Amino acid sequence: MSRDPFRLTNQLDPAALDVIADRLETRGRHPCFTKALADYLDRMAIDDRTDVLDLGCGTGIVARAIAGRPGFRGTVLGIDRSPHLVQAAARLAAEAALGDRVRFVVGDAQQLDRPASSVDAVVAHTLFSHLEDPGKTLAEMRRVLRSSGTIGLFDGDYASLTFELADPERSRQMDEAVVGSLMTNPRILRQLPRLLRQAGFTLDAVLPSIVTEAGSADFWRGSIETYAKLAPHAGRVSAATTATWLAELLAISDRGEFFGSCVYYAYVAHKS
Ligand SMILES: C[S@@+](CC[C@H](N)C(=O)[O-])C[C@H]1O[C@@H](n2cnc3c(N)ncnc32)[C@H](O)[C@@H]1O
Repeated sequence: MSRDPFRLTNQLDPAALDVIADRLETRGRHPCFTKALADYLDRMAIDDRTDVLDLGCGTGIVARAIAGRPGFRGTVLGIDRSPHLVQAAARLAAEAALGDRVRFVVGDAQQLDRPASSVDAVVAHTLFSHLEDPGKTLAEMRRVLRSSGTIGLFDGDYASLTFELADPERSRQMDEAVVGSLMTNPRILRQLPRLLRQAGFTLDAVLPSIVTEAGSADFWRGSIETYAKLAPHAGRVSAATTATWLAELLAISDRGEFFGSCVYYAYVAHKS
């Protein structure tokens, strides 16, 4: 299993966690992500829910988005295994004056410290590609969900994440090295129809979106800068190699020749 730094956030140093926190906040504000989030929350009828869990909440951008929806009257509990990110989430929610509509605690999405049948919606936004045991988390989601409850799982199909360098073979090798370092389960979204059924869920919808930039990198610029800093933490690729990769991609972007892309999906499901 990859030493994926997004999975091992409870072991990272504060500097690396600040890199992650900055990236999560910037990514979450991008129009592609705000639209994809709003679309699957609508499909979950989130405004009609009263007790919502946000698993792997990071800095809490999704929990804040739910709590801040004009039609939402419930509460959101964000759970993350990183105390550093949970602290950041609490601070950002206080700054957004969301009051007691949102709370954050440290915890493991694979072993939830919540009673059975206690919530009516569970969201996991870019968590599943980083889990040791996605089946265990689905079982926990099912346990804590009331019979009328719904779940929303959003993630990148990171097996489709790609950045083109001048040499196609090096591009393939670097895509593989970066994805293999940063994602524990890069193919999880292709496995979810099976895993959801096995865990006792019925699929309501799959909502695809694609983030592609051709010419110059804007959204992907921030991502590749983050990936270049974090990938070496997994020990599979050196900092010098990712720095060269990043410099090459930025030069390609400056020339207007950039290509970067990834497909994202949201799955919405309910208890069978
Ligand atoms: C890519 S980040 C996504 C954060 C947030 N959902 C967002 O989209 O901005 C993945 C998050 O999952 C958390 N995480 C990974 N494994 C976890 C686990 N087993 N239990 C709880 N949180 C976990 C990490 O600490 C990290 O904050």
